[in-house]
Amino acid sequence: MDRIRIRGGRPLNGRIAIGGAKNAALPLMAAGLLTDETLCLRNLPDLADIHTMLQLLSQHGVAVELNGGDPAGGATGRVVRLRADDIHNLTAPYDIVRKMRASVLVLGPLLARFGQATVSLPGGCAIGTRPVDLHIKGLARLGAEIDLDDGYIRARAPKGLTGAVIRFPLVSVGATENLLMAATLARGETVLENAAREPEIGDLAACLNAMGARITGIGTDMLRVTGVDRLHGADHGVLPDRIETATYAMAAAMTGGSVELTGADMGLMEAAVGVLSEAGVSLAASEHGLTVTRNGAGLSGVDVTTQPYPGFPTDLQAQVMTLMTVADGAAMITETIFENRFMHVPELARMGADIQVKGPVAMVRGVAGLSGAPVMATDLRASVSLILAGLAAEGETTVNRVYHLDRGYADLVSKLAGCGAEIERIGD
Ligand code: UD1
Repeated sequence: MDRIRIRGGRPLNGRIAIGGAKNAALPLMAAGLLTDETLCLRNLPDLADIHTMLQLLSQHGVAVELNGGDPAGGATGRVVRLRADDIHNLTAPYDIVRKMRASVLVLGPLLARFGQATVSLPGGCAIGTRPVDLHIKGLARLGAEIDLDDGYIRARAPKGLTGAVIRFPLVSVGATENLLMAATLARGETVLENAAREPEIGDLAACLNAMGARITGIGTDMLRVTGVDRLHGADHGVLPDRIETATYAMAAAMTGGSVELTGADMGLMEAAVGVLSEAGVSLAASEHGLTVTRNGAGLSGVDVTTQPYPGFPTDLQAQVMTLMTVADGAAMITETIFENRFMHVPELARMGADIQVKGPVAMVRGVAGLSGAPVMATDLRASVSLILAGLAAEGETTVNRVYHLDRGYADLVSKLAGCGAEIERIGD
């Protein structure tokens, strides 16, 4: 299993290209199932999760054409053309779904278009129980008959889905996306109340509208969808990855130096920008994205609570905690989205961090410096937090089990090395 070795303490200086957002690309790809025409997606990041989704779509019968970069469009990512005009299998098998929880996003589109779908219950990151009850209850509200057996969700709607008012009891990104896609082809109007407002949902809704869907309320917590008989093809660019952006911003902040994050959009990450600014990091929009510089002084501790968008994202909790380990003073980090998302804490402690966890709250007391150590990656965002720690630590850090990183960070090693980090990937 590959490892990443880092010699810490070198400031980052240079440019890093930010890719398309994984969490936007995955639902957008699932949306390709809603039409028999070609959906072309640009600025697709080159990540393991994207390949898993391509594998899933292919086994349903989607024709996939994947090209290299798209210099003409100015995008750094890839271009994929998906054509779902010969769907011959309506089952998403355990073997693929267990690798990536977002596979459950094929449920809504398959059911809405073909009146039937069978999807394995997902596995995914080990960051809590992560049920899919809201997806299932929402689809049942649209008239689907759903059974759970042998670890599979079996959904049927032989006469098609019918619009309804669905009020989510808690904010769920995935359930909002699944229901939004399903509702585009349902009869009549669907209203999604207490919908998630993440920018990736806005991106999905914009693409669905370009495919002929009728969605209003984009960017708010109430989405209204008027169903149509069929959707057509479209050409859509995936929005930049705000999590990747903020992660590299924190890497620059921890090590000092100045990094330009090209292709990034600061407008998508106001909560993170607020926390970083308060901590003493300066971020400014630049011609090609944004520039991050650590202010002359050190970092200072800031309290952070994760919330659904526009709050501070749970996908940045591990990284911001790492930043706070070397800040002046204390920082209280509260995780409200997932119940088991502090697995990076014992690893950070091995590097000299001072963190006390009590339930959903971690109290971080800043230390003068971290020291390199062998550490173990446990999930996607926890893994990258250990990379940040390694970049700032004195001495050598080896991060094991880096396959988690490949799910969400394209070319991480070369992007950091290009800015002066001493970092390498080592195979077995
Ligand atoms: C998405 C993101 C993930 C991010 C998360 C929260 C993708 C591919 N993944 O995951 O990176 O960390 O949003 O911002 O976009 N819940 C239920 N029942 C459900 C669904 C969710 O109880 O049916 C709970 C979850 O356990 C969790 C909370 O709702 O506590 C939020 O989860 P959700 O927003 O659904 O996360 P995902 O869509 O899985």
